[in-house]
Amino acid sequence: MAKIAILGFGVVGSGAAEVLTHNLELIEKRIGQELTIKYILDLRDFPDSPFGHLVIHDFNTIVEDPEVSIVAEMMGGSHPAFEFSMACLKAGKSVVTSNKEVVANFGTELLKTAKQMGVRYLFEASVGGGIPVIRPIVNDLAANSIRSVSGILNGTTNYILTQMEASGADFVDALKDAQKKGYAEADPTADVEGIDAARKIVILAALAFGKLLDPNKIYAEGITKISRSDMKIARTLGYTVKLIAHSEKIDGKILAMVTPRLVPASNPLHSVSDVFNGVMLDTDMLGQAMFYGRGAGKLPTASAVVADIIDIAKSPEYDKSFPCLVTAEEDEIASLSEYSCPWLFVLDEKTDLPVTIKKSAVVDGKYAVITENILETEMQAFRATLGENLISAIRIFE
Ligand code: HSE
Repeated sequence: MAKIAILGFGVVGSGAAEVLTHNLELIEKRIGQELTIKYILDLRDFPDSPFGHLVIHDFNTIVEDPEVSIVAEMMGGSHPAFEFSMACLKAGKSVVTSNKEVVANFGTELLKTAKQMGVRYLFEASVGGGIPVIRPIVNDLAANSIRSVSGILNGTTNYILTQMEASGADFVDALKDAQKKGYAEADPTADVEGIDAARKIVILAALAFGKLLDPNKIYAEGITKISRSDMKIARTLGYTVKLIAHSEKIDGKILAMVTPRLVPASNPLHSVSDVFNGVMLDTDMLGQAMFYGRGAGKLPTASAVVADIIDIAKSPEYDKSFPCLVTAEEDEIASLSEYSCPWLFVLDEKTDLPVTIKKSAVVDGKYAVITENILETEMQAFRATLGENLISAIRIFE
């Protein structure tokens, strides 16, 4: 029999308990043994929950109980989630998590400890919610060299951008609507400033390229400056605006970035709407592959957490084939200045630009152009030359 403990009985934690209970019979059949939730750790009590009797408040009860072999951390935030995960691994327990903040910031140390202790640390739910993406990268694409990984990795901002496009709402009103519907948190900073997507792209990049970048140091720009006018211009020119997380290798160095981008209708990410996520991989043997589904939410995220629990119940020992994340050295990280892509420029007045224009339109008296590829370093020169004539500049993701 496998006994598990849940750390954090919030949205995802209660979802995991629900998934484990709802599908217990088929899960036990699949793992060939009984599976029981022994403890649920939370600061609060849940007298009305069917799991209320399992709730405890002292973490040491879990770490000191030799019967508990798998711990599912769904607390959110870095601390004490990191310390609790580390203590469980050191006590010889495997840990699964949906916590991208912990994986992105401390994944290297946690995986190293799991290896030392001969146990497992899995985090399928940390990126793309319920969408299987980590296991496919590690297992199913193992015969490939990955050229790039990109995606819409944040459901909240995707919902906001979808609303802005559909109803012509501005950012502030679309954010309020997302908060009312429970998609955006009261403090939406991590989502709308691209911080959440930055954590997720460094996790995917680490699996794709073998090195974990510091999520706090990659270039991350959110969607707060996207205006109704940008949306209208994008649509007129055949694009939509999405928050795209992207990672690729430039001259052997790893680049990871999060920016709002114009996405053309020909790109499959164009039709990823609302709270859905999409992850695109470009690999040398398979070519392009896309993973699509619910990137957030109670049961979708819990589905991935429970998949990791099932994996560990079937194979509890440290898996040598799972990549041990290594922190990237400074000279292994590409600078954003080396990146190039096409741009949308929105200009107050028609201006001759020293760059090939692929498309142009006049929208509400503003002159909008789509350029050919421009290097980030050249872009700075453009900004300086155009000055206040440049109303808006947004990268394009082809
Ligand atoms: N705030 C995140 C999102 C939750 O909106 O995608 C899932 O990680």
